[in-house]
Amino acid sequence: MELNKTVAVVTGGASGLGEACARDIHAGGGKVAIFDLNEEKGTALAKELGDVAIFAKVDVGDEDSVTQGLNAVEAAFGFVSAAVNCAGIAIAVKTLGRDGPHPLSAYRKVIDINLAGSFNIARLASERMQKNVLNDDGEAGVIINMASVAAFDGQKGQAAYAASKGGIAAMTLPMSRDLASYGIRVNTVAPGLFLTPMMASLPEAAQEDLGQQPLMPKRLGKPSELAHLVRFMIENPYINGEVVRLDGGVRLP
Ligand SMILES: NC(=O)c1ccc[n+]([C@@H]2O[C@H](COP(=O)([O-])OP(=O)(O)OC[C@H]3O[C@@H](n4cnc5c(N)ncnc54)[C@H](O)[C@@H]3O)[C@@H](O)[C@H]2O)c1
Repeated sequence: MELNKTVAVVTGGASGLGEACARDIHAGGGKVAIFDLNEEKGTALAKELGDVAIFAKVDVGDEDSVTQGLNAVEAAFGFVSAAVNCAGIAIAVKTLGRDGPHPLSAYRKVIDINLAGSFNIARLASERMQKNVLNDDGEAGVIINMASVAAFDGQKGQAAYAASKGGIAAMTLPMSRDLASYGIRVNTVAPGLFLTPMMASLPEAAQEDLGQQPLMPKRLGKPSELAHLVRFMIENPYINGEVVRLDGGVRLP
């Protein structure tokens, strides 16, 4: 799909990887709707990007909230043709630790936001996308999810997070099969270690240590590099049903 004809919803678009994607789609001439819980940062970014961007306070796990957000996008821009799922949370809790077993509520919360939230956006956005006039490649829309290398090499304390990201990787192919007849592609990025506000809050020594983990280049990923892959997944009509690691070759021990 051509970026300058795209109307993209970017969840988690107020921060980090989502913000980079929103900026990149905007720079390529696309219209952007930032869906996030962080009203202050989301509103500021939409204002900075101008009248081809809106912010909607959306909880990705909530059906009514997403429906209202999508209504706002259609009211502003007429249609939705891309959904980039970047909203997510990470926790570090062991299955059994000094404080006892992993609280089930914490596990469920991660699954609810990361996995069910991504699916909620995909199912409701695809309902809107199916109304679009197909382009010359037969496309009505594209959905891009954010998994993580934790889907494959989860660390201690990442049972919930890794399960949520593994679920995102696993649902990519069946969703692309479900949505192909509507002209909607589905792809997933599995990022390695990226320098986002979450990572920047770690001590510098820890950041330097993590930056040594990739094979090459030996540094953390730049959010703009992630946005570059998301742009490719929007633009290239032949990539579908795929999970792509973007990680400098890192395999976490
Ligand atoms: N940063 C990394 O190294 C890295 C690596 C692998 C995967 N990821 C994944 O990429 C995505 C973005 O990560 P990031 O580092 O940019 O994080 P971030 O914390 O900078 O941004 C996440 C955004 O999601 C929003 N959000 C959280 N819950 C929400 C909800 N229920 N509804 C709507 N918005 C919600 C937050 O307000 C925040 O603005 C996440 O899914 C994360 O798991 C990040």
